[in-house]
Formats: sequence, C-alpha cells, structure tokens
Amino acid sequence: MQLRAALQTALKTLLQHQVPSAHLAAELLLMHTLGCDRAYLYACPERELGAEITDRYFRFIEERTTGKPTQYITGHQEFWGLDFEVTPDVLIPRPETEHVVERVLEIATERKLRKDGRLRIADVGTGSGCIVLALASEFPRAVLFGVDISRPALVVASRNARRLGMPERVKFLESDLLARLLDKDFAGTFDFVVANPPYVGEGEIDMVQREVRAFEPRVAWGGVARGEEIYARLFPQALQVLKPGGCVVVEIGYNMRDRVLPLLRNNWTDVEVIPDLAGIPRVVSAQKPR
Ligand SMILES: C[S@@+](CC[C@H](N)C(=O)[O-])C[C@H]1O[C@@H](n2cnc3c(N)ncnc32)[C@H](O)[C@@H]1O
Repeated sequence: MQLRAALQTALKTLLQHQVPSAHLAAELLLMHTLGCDRAYLYACPERELGAEITDRYFRFIEERTTGKPTQYITGHQEFWGLDFEVTPDVLIPRPETEHVVERVLEIATERKLRKDGRLRIADVGTGSGCIVLALASEFPRAVLFGVDISRPALVVASRNARRLGMPERVKFLESDLLARLLDKDFAGTFDFVVANPPYVGEGEIDMVQREVRAFEPRVAWGGVARGEEIYARLFPQALQVLKPGGCVVVEIGYNMRDRVLPLLRNNWTDVEVIPDLAGIPRVVSAQKPR
C-alpha cells in the first residue's frame, strides 16, 4: 500500500470512531511506524510501505480507536521543547502546564535570581518529570527534587532524566507531598515549590474525558474527595520548606481559582493568578513573607 493511501484509510477509520484530532493522530502514528518526521510524509506520498509496515501501522490505528491516547502508543510527548518518554504510569504532559515553568522563570528574572541560578526547587507530583526537568534545563546550577507518591511514575521520571542528559541534576524521591523533605535539614531552604497536583474531586469525575478516565492513572488526575484537597495539604508544607521570600507555583483546574485562593489568604503574600492561552485561570503563585 502506498503511504498516501495508508494515511487516507487510517484517517477514515479514526474519523468513523470519532477519535479527536484524527488527522494529527494518523500522521503521528505513521511517523512513529516509519521512524520519520512529518516532512517525509509529505515528500514521499507514493512510497510503497510493504506488508509488514502496513500491518504494524494499522495495529497502532486500531489501538487508537479503542481510545488509547496517541502518546501512550508512540511512548513520547514533547514538553518545553524536550522529548519525554511517557507510559501509562504517568500523566501525559499538557501544554498548559508549561505556564508553571514560565511563571518560575518570570519570578526568577524579576528577582534577578537567574544569573546566579543556584536555586533549590521541589516539584511535587513530578509524574514524567516534565516540570522539574524543564526547570533543570533552564537553571543549570540549581539543585532540584522531583517527588511523587507513585513509584512507577518515578521510574519513568528517572529514565527521562537520563535520556535528557541530566541524571545527576534531579533527585527523585517517593514521598507523600513534601513529607520526605520536611525534616529539619531542609526546613527553610527552598526557593520554589512547584506542583501540578491531581485536582479532580469525586463529584467531578463525570467532567473528565473518557480517554483520560480509561487510560491515564487515576492517582495522577483524581483520587481526591475534593479538588482543593491536595492544595490544602501542600501549602502549609511548602511554607515549612521554603526560604522567607520563596515561592509556591501551582497549576489549578479550570474552575478552581475561588477554591484555591482562600487557602492562601493567611501566611502568603504576592498572590498572582495567571491565565492560560484560552484565558482560563491556570497557575497560582504566592510568596512566603520575608
Ligand atoms: C497531574 S499529575 C502531574 C504530573 C506532572 N507533574 C505533569 O505536570 O505532567 C499529578 C502527579 O501527582 C502524583 N501524586 C498524587 N498524589 C500525590 C501525593 N499525595 N504525593 C505526591 N505525589 C502525588 C501522581 O502520582 C501524579 O504523578
């Protein structure tokens, strides 16, 4: 079968199964099958794929029609311009989470911390390691920790650190929130605590996309009675590990601003809410008083 015909057939199948972004999925899965980039697909539409490659491609297409996300089939997702391995043990990094990284860079620039860059940063619920490794790439002299309650997620995060050439830069620890960093040696030493915690409460599960519910780890997006639960536990712990003047930077769900901000009312200053590209309140940052 020729490449162009394979793409067209795959697209038709995906559309029949109402797969979102069907065109993109058909292309990404063919790029993955052939180990090529998008330019090649357009440059060689008449290439004969051969039976083995065609079979492999249509097996991936079939998997996609079950709702399995493309990234779990290809095993990759880009974040902050870096290529991350993803498996069903970790949440697939989302583009809006890049606003967390941007906010840290903004604060560090405002405070002229970027030049020296010897910062201490903790990423809570590190998952694939996307946030902490993006920050490691921006702050070559920082000491960074990625913590997660999921041991399988930490295995993936550590592999990503190796793949991205930063194995010694980030320490990954199994921990319930900051529990492992709360001992007195760490108290008051961190410049930033960042997190994209699970924020779908029991009553909101119906609002989660079917594909997320069926394929992404529950502990990564839900598993909490109320959406604000993790923030309520995290902020007091962050106050303990942060230096005076240190900052917490967290992602929030689209409807969570009014539930998260009251948790910062006491004890924090300079509270900011940053919208994502769709104008939805997406990141909250706050400073521990000096
Ligand atoms: C929304 S995912 C974020 C993953 C990654 N940081 C990202 O932005 O793609 C939340 C992560 O928090 C972890 N997690 C859930 N509860 C936790 C807890 N109590 N302590 C530490 N990590 C937790 C999950 O295992 C998951 O990896």
